[in-house]
Amino acid sequence: MAIELKRVDEFAVVTFNRPDALNALSFSLIRDLGAKLDEVAASDARGLLLIGAGEKAFCAGADIKELRDRPLLDQKRGAELGQQTFAKLDRLPMPSVAVINGYAFGGGLEVALACTFRIAARTAKMGLPEIKLGLIPGYGGTQRLPRVVGPARALEMILTGKTIAAEEAERIGLVSRLIDGDALQAGIAFAREFSGYSLPVLSLAREAILRGLDTTLDDGLRIEADLSTLSFQTKDAEEGMAAFAEKRKPKFEDR
Ligand code: CAA
Repeated sequence: MAIELKRVDEFAVVTFNRPDALNALSFSLIRDLGAKLDEVAASDARGLLLIGAGEKAFCAGADIKELRDRPLLDQKRGAELGQQTFAKLDRLPMPSVAVINGYAFGGGLEVALACTFRIAARTAKMGLPEIKLGLIPGYGGTQRLPRVVGPARALEMILTGKTIAAEEAERIGLVSRLIDGDALQAGIAFAREFSGYSLPVLSLAREAILRGLDTTLDDGLRIEADLSTLSFQTKDAEEGMAAFAEKRKPKFEDR
């Protein structure tokens, strides 16, 4: 299978597994990814890690060989398929981490941008090079990249198609951390920094941030007041505050 889903401890791990094509996103791979994300959503995993098979690539983007000579309507449906599939990452009940263990170009960077977090090997390289093909990004890159690195840097990356090395990616906030050693193990260690907290409360925090990015400060503050009030209604908030008062470690139960 071009997409593998496995369980490692408390985490779901999705592997892009077409190393001969640098894990490029064929349409069948994207459909398979959508089905696997539905499985992850219904599971009790406390986080999702995405990684590329092989030594070279996380994912080299849309399968360019499949994109040629198709009717325009099919191109539009292809973009919508990629966008809708990657949007499932936003709605997962658990946070997701793109472990960028090599090249992440085009659709490969776009899937990483749809994850909650991106971390990268020091040798990783990334970019949105579609302009070099006479194209623009179609799987969410023009919308998510400026939200992550700001419009000026997004314009520069998309209009020049330039390749960004891992260190620069960290400096501009495209990835939050650089990792050493085994990439999957490093991804798991990173995910353990949040996976012990209450999943519903983690979701409220993600929702407040993502919805706030799409609105005015005033409306965003209203969203925050509503969602933070909701967090007070969870059993886990009761437990967290009781544990603080009793000077013990909280035991969250996702309620
Ligand atoms: N689609 C299809 N096949 C791809 C691919 C892609 N995006 N990227 C790499 N491959 C294939 C190559 O054709 C090659 O296959 P063959 O051995 O059969 O020729 C194999 O993977 C290995 O690739 P290279 O020999 O090119 O490896 P390299 O190390 O010399 O170069 C690279 C690596 C710089 C990533 C280069 O492969 C490359 O530039 N790939 C294309 C990257 C790109 O343009 N991505 C954007 C795609 S468009 C898109 O994603 C649109 C969108 O927004 C939805």
